[in-house]
Amino acid sequence: MVFQVFSQMDTGGVAVLKKGRVLMIALACDHGGFVLMGKVKSYLDACNLEYEDFGTYSDESSDYPEFAIRAARAVAGGECERGILICGTGIGMSIAANKIPGIRAALCSNCFMAEMARRHNDANVLALGARVIDTGLALSIIELFLNTGFDAGGRHSRRVGMLNDLDRNRG
Ligand code: RB5
Repeated sequence: MVFQVFSQMDTGGVAVLKKGRVLMIALACDHGGFVLMGKVKSYLDACNLEYEDFGTYSDESSDYPEFAIRAARAVAGGECERGILICGTGIGMSIAANKIPGIRAALCSNCFMAEMARRHNDANVLALGARVIDTGLALSIIELFLNTGFDAGGRHSRRVGMLNDLDRNRG
């Protein structure tokens, strides 16, 4: 698996490098996403992709906003290039992440949504529902999310710019 999108965007060279360092993916889940997150980490390991795991670290009941916000802040702050968040439905994780200025979190339950989230919305965070989709589909969605570029220029850039304006005007 070659993750082309980052090399196209940033280096023109090695796929996992950005700005002279290894591309970093922020991960977060709650208890509902814990088992699937383990499989996602194995997949990322197999792809030689680096990640930072912001928890949770067990299947004990936990509060999704705590972990979503940690990962979202890492993406918004530039410490990580992308985020992958998993809870039972993906809904709580996506709502929480989208509270952080600079985050465009997309809850995707099929491959079309993942492709469009990147091409049209320049989504920087992917939210998944472990109780909604199976592991195989989750990994396919992740592959597309990481491999698809933004259709920059024209109407999509204008619309993402409007989202950025909303962020700037937040209290
Ligand atoms: C936890 O039971 C569940 O509510 C959580 O994982 C998530 O689905 C919330 O949106």
